[in-house]
Parts: sequence; C-alpha cells; structure tokens
Amino acid sequence: MKIYQIASIPGDGIGKEVIPEGEKVLQVIAEINQGIGFQFERFDWGGDYYRKHGVMMPENGLDAIRHKDAILFGSAGDPNIPDHITLWGLRLKICQGFDQYANVRPTRILPGIETPLRHCTRDQLNWVIVRENSEGEYAGLGGRAHQGHPIEVASDMSILTRVGVERIQRFAFQLARSRPRKHLTVITKSNAQRHGMVMWDEIAWQVSKEFPDVTWDKELVDAATARMVNRPESLDTVVATNLHADVLSDLAAALAGSLGIAPTGNIDPERRYPSMFEPIHGSAFDIMGKGLANPIGTFWSIVMLLEHLGETSSAQQLMKAIELVTANPKFHTRDLGGDAMMSDVTAAVCTALKK
Ligand code: IPM
Ligand code: MG
Repeated sequence: MKIYQIASIPGDGIGKEVIPEGEKVLQVIAEINQGIGFQFERFDWGGDYYRKHGVMMPENGLDAIRHKDAILFGSAGDPNIPDHITLWGLRLKICQGFDQYANVRPTRILPGIETPLRHCTRDQLNWVIVRENSEGEYAGLGGRAHQGHPIEVASDMSILTRVGVERIQRFAFQLARSRPRKHLTVITKSNAQRHGMVMWDEIAWQVSKEFPDVTWDKELVDAATARMVNRPESLDTVVATNLHADVLSDLAAALAGSLGIAPTGNIDPERRYPSMFEPIHGSAFDIMGKGLANPIGTFWSIVMLLEHLGETSSAQQLMKAIELVTANPKFHTRDLGGDAMMSDVTAAVCTALKK
C-alpha cells in the first residue's frame, strides 16, 4: 500500500474552509482505492501566523515540507497585511524555493456551468494555460529610492533567462503534444517589450524544432484577450510569462463560468521538490467563515495532484464525480448563482465517488 505524505497549508480566508474539504475527498479516494492512502500534516502558516510571529511562515519552513509527496495550498491574503507581504512571505517563497517553474492552469466549461460567452459550446473552450512561474515580471528585482521625497523612484525589473524560457517552453510543447489538438499558442509582447520578449520568441522558434508534430502560433497578449472571447476554439495549450499568464488565466476562469472552479498546479517538472496544488480563487474575505465557498476549485486541484502522483485512475474518478455534481444546479454555490453550501457540494462529490 502506498501512503502519500501531503502537506496541507490552508493559509487565509476561505482557504481555511476549502482545504479540510479537500482532505475529506482524498480520504474517500483512499477508502475506495485499497492500494493508496494519504497522510496529512497541517501547517498553520499565513496571516494569523504573521500576527503572532512577524513572518508568514518560519524561516526554515521549507525544510518541514521538502520531503512531502505534494502540497495542498488554500490561499494567502489578509485584509490587514499588505498583499506583497502575504504573497512573497508564503506562496512565492514556496514556489520559488522549490523552483516550481511551471504553473499549469486547465480551463474547461464543466457540465452544468454557464459561460458568459454567447455562442460558445462546451467543446469549444478547452485550454491549458502554462504560466512561467519562477521569473519574468515576478523575479522580485527592483527597489525604491528617495522614499517620501518628490524625486521618489520605484522599479520592478522583469528578468528572463535563456534556461528559464527554454524549460517552460519545452514543458509547454510537451504538454501540447500530450493533448489531442497538439497545438501551442505562444503569448508574447515583443512589439513593445523589445528585449526579453524578443528572446522569448526566438527561443520558442528554436524549441519548436524539437516538436515537429506540434503546430504552434504566436499571439500578442492584448490580442490574445480578444481571441479568447471571439475565437475560443482556436486555442488549446497556451504558454506565457508570469504576469501575462496571470492576467489571461483570470479571464480564462471567468469565461469558463467561475473563478470558484479553476484549479492550478505549481509544478517542479524535474521532481526535485514537491509540487503544490491550489484553487486560484484566493482568500475571498467577503464570504469567509460562512460555509459559502465553492470547494470545486480545490477538488479539481486535487485531480491535478493525483495526476502528478501518477494516480491516473483516481484522478479520473474524482474528475467524473466533480462533473456529475456540477451538472446538478442543486449543488451550485453562490458564485454560480445557486444557494448550495460548501458542505453540500463536498457531500455530493463524496457520494458520487462512492458509487
Ligand atoms: C494567481 C494570483 C496571485 C498571482 C496573487 C494572489 C498574487 O492572482 O495565482 O494568479 O498574481 O500570482
Ligand atoms: Mg492571478
């Protein structure tokens, strides 16, 4: 029997609600699949930890989770702590510390979910956005000087390395190859960003030579937003820099019906470190503590976690259960226009799994 060691980090806001629901679902998966089990270790890092200790996670926190098989993460964000502190002190510390350079964001319209796109059918929107997750606009380089004086200056420097760009584009081409369409769209802005993005384009062209069976095209990031709305079926796998993909993936999630559903994986493709899976909805303080959160984003992230662990059939079982539940409006939470509670949705997914 294989027991997977999972670090759960609920973090802040509704992260604290949805992560325990995710653990429940994984326990059911273990019940119905005799061969596997999950052992959870919870870490109370986040805003409350910061109020007590002045840091979002302990200095040597990475060592406590380094040997886990995977990390299940809720969200980081607190109305009383500046966002750049919560982000850099926890989530980015893990992503960058474990060099989880590929952020993978699948987007589909699940059964029963309505897209705001008028003429789009379910099979016309099936994307995976690959976000460069280790450098680019989130490299963290820059600074401020003359603070508080009229001549104050601030800078954020975007860094693209050849190694960093090659590895994310190779990952994206490989992912594109594994999907039926075998098509990759490389997002760029090399008309305005005339150094880094020009290198990005050159490297895309070079890497594409290794993948003669994958077709690819290039799209400027601004034009890509219009293309997502007007011709969703023309896209399949998409690769973009850290910030470009951050923006595109929120649009993608909204077009697929709700931010409450969208999952993501922060992946170390080389498997030197554990990868981290999380819903993309964030901490949503407006609804926290009320049991109103949509746990589907967490469950779908767990599908990605299981796939990453090589537990393909469990992953498929869970995805089927999720789709069965979303197909029934009775189990739609408030973000989907329904009045189901989070616990109703979890119970329904667990029941579907057991069938
Ligand atoms: C995301 C989020 C984060 C990001 C926020 C919470 C800082 O929007 O995962 O897309 O910008 O990376
Ligand atoms: Mg975002």
